[in-house]
Amino acid sequence: MLKDTFNRTHDYLRISLTDACNFRCLYCMPNEQMKFMPAKHLMQADEIEILAKTFVELGVKKIRLTGGEPLVRKDAKVIVARLSQFPVELTLTTNAALVDKFIDVFHQAGIKSINVSLDTLQKDKFLKLSKRDLFEKVWNNIQLLIEEGFHVKVNVVVMKGINNDEILDFIEWTKNQPVHVRFIEFMPFDKNQWNSSKVFSYQEILNLAETQFSFIKMKDGTNETAKKFKPFGHQGTFAVISTMSAPFCLNCNRIRLTADGKMKNCLFSKGEADILTALRNQEDIVRIIKTCVGQKEKALGGQFEGDFHKIDTTNINNRSMIRIGG
Ligand code: 5AD
Ligand code: SF4
Repeated sequence: MLKDTFNRTHDYLRISLTDACNFRCLYCMPNEQMKFMPAKHLMQADEIEILAKTFVELGVKKIRLTGGEPLVRKDAKVIVARLSQFPVELTLTTNAALVDKFIDVFHQAGIKSINVSLDTLQKDKFLKLSKRDLFEKVWNNIQLLIEEGFHVKVNVVVMKGINNDEILDFIEWTKNQPVHVRFIEFMPFDKNQWNSSKVFSYQEILNLAETQFSFIKMKDGTNETAKKFKPFGHQGTFAVISTMSAPFCLNCNRIRLTADGKMKNCLFSKGEADILTALRNQEDIVRIIKTCVGQKEKALGGQFEGDFHKIDTTNINNRSMIRIGG
């Protein structure tokens, strides 16, 4: 078992398959010309399999594939199939642009739940946010996932002045479809133009939701980051991921592998452990993994504390979101 010094057990691994993406969301990708990782720095399918096996032997029970966009990777199907052999809950986070090509692969791999990132329900805003005119494609693919029986969670990064005016529309969507919308507070990463005035907080989201809907608080799982709500009479639910205003680090069970094989013990960790190089050099990766978990800070990678309004982003020491994988 992977326990840290705060007695937290780490049994949930998020593996980034690539830092490439078919979208160009500003809050995720640095604005300047993005240089993607060279192929030889990426974990190969067999390396991902070996590393995943090692983590499973150390007690990992859930694996999520992320990106960039995980499905743009040419061997994504092979990787999904190989990871499905492990006794874990396998899932992924995707922008959904390519999911219609993967339905059979997902079913065969026993995937039950899929997270889709979608920040707007408006076609022109979608183009502005992602620089791709693919709203209909994404919408149709979400419909397809629902028809195919997947549990669909929709991640909405709420940015003040950009999409907070759509919160009620997103909740309205949960009335007639079993979708689970999760509003995520906008978080600071390297060069993503974050500032605290762009955060639309948990409390603001709830206050707004209450103007139009009646809902009850649902019970959250132990390691859950989302605070869930069930509007009366709706098929779906909504939730808030309050990373900035009310962090949930106390029960964190997450560890991460970047596409270039670096382990991060927190989304906001400054340091990383190069387990891919260690694997290629036939070093003892179990020891490196355990050390990395042992170095985990109590909260938010030790980078921010207290009131998020006071965060100074010039001092942030981290990758951009697209190079971490979410
Ligand atoms: N703040 C909050 N959430 C973010 N995501 C990407 N960048 C940010 C950010 N700056 C979300 C994506 C995806 C998930 C993995 O993280 O939209 O759904
Ligand atoms: Fe791609 Fe998701 Fe980042 Fe947008 S948020 S650029 S879809 S990885």
